[in-house]
Amino acid sequence: MLSYSKVEKHIPVMSAEVLNYLDIKKNGIYLDCTLGSGGHSQIMLECFSEIKIIAFDQDQEAIKRCQQNPFFASKNITFINDNFVNFPQYLTELNISQVDGFLFDLGVSSEQLNDDERGFGYRQDAPLDMRMSAENTNSLTAQKIINNYSCQQLAEIFREYGEEKKAKKIAWRICQTRKKEKITTTQQLVSIVASCFSQKSKKHPARRVFQALRIVVNQELINLSQGLETALQKLKSSGRIVVISYHSLEDRIVKQIFKKYNELGHYQILTKKPLIPSFEEITINHRARSAKMRVIARQK
Ligand SMILES: C[S@@+](CC[C@H](N)C(=O)[O-])C[C@H]1O[C@@H](n2cnc3c(N)ncnc32)[C@H](O)[C@@H]1O
Repeated sequence: MLSYSKVEKHIPVMSAEVLNYLDIKKNGIYLDCTLGSGGHSQIMLECFSEIKIIAFDQDQEAIKRCQQNPFFASKNITFINDNFVNFPQYLTELNISQVDGFLFDLGVSSEQLNDDERGFGYRQDAPLDMRMSAENTNSLTAQKIINNYSCQQLAEIFREYGEEKKAKKIAWRICQTRKKEKITTTQQLVSIVASCFSQKSKKHPARRVFQALRIVVNQELINLSQGLETALQKLKSSGRIVVISYHSLEDRIVKQIFKKYNELGHYQILTKKPLIPSFEEITINHRARSAKMRVIARQK
């Protein structure tokens, strides 16, 4: 087993487990569906230089960053700036019918969270945007949701996608505030949400509302279901799919889809219970604390 030995600027989550469970084959073809900073792709290529990686990210900034990374310059990696649900059309163009392994490392990257322009983080002030892909300037943003959805719709979103117990109260306060002024920034929203909580908690009061908005803006759960189902069809015999999720809604979808394919036959779940990061990893990489990893293999 590989282990965590050094602390680097960007630390890909559970990378030792990813490498071990992908069971990488010489000359194999692998899809990194969520390239981000390229952390997992880099480790895969460092350990197995003869593989080919096709790497997707819907965020143009992520693709640019990796294209400019000298490590990838001479490596067998193809970068694609698109939603991973569209991967079959690229495989057809590349004349690839099946793939040896898929990696999904879901959610937002540290760069997206820390970007002052994107509005993913509740700790800094930014416009309420939250689009991972900013290509379509007319697409849904968090600001459009917060200022235009009905009070009932907002409460439903916060409850369903944020599992927020105070969903109704928060939605009502938002609707009262927006009668007086448009809500355009993350810190305006944070202060409204925070005003609904009387007791201090270790966790940030706005984290569930931000999660809910991000999921809706980026259609994250729909993409995950669709991407996983298609990946299962395109997986080679003895190939593997590794998914790292960061909240219970994602993990539930992965668990249910894997269970369905396991029962259909020809697929075997390799992680009866999800794997979680070691204490050692969480200590050096706080972002890993909520990660859960599930793996499935195709038998025939
Ligand atoms: C957690 S980060 C991945 C980090 C990466 N594994 C690394 O080690 O650097 C998730 C990335 O996936 C991208 N992403 C999320 N959903 C996506 C989708 N449906 N299609 C393409 N990219 C997606 C995000 O833009 C983000 O850059």
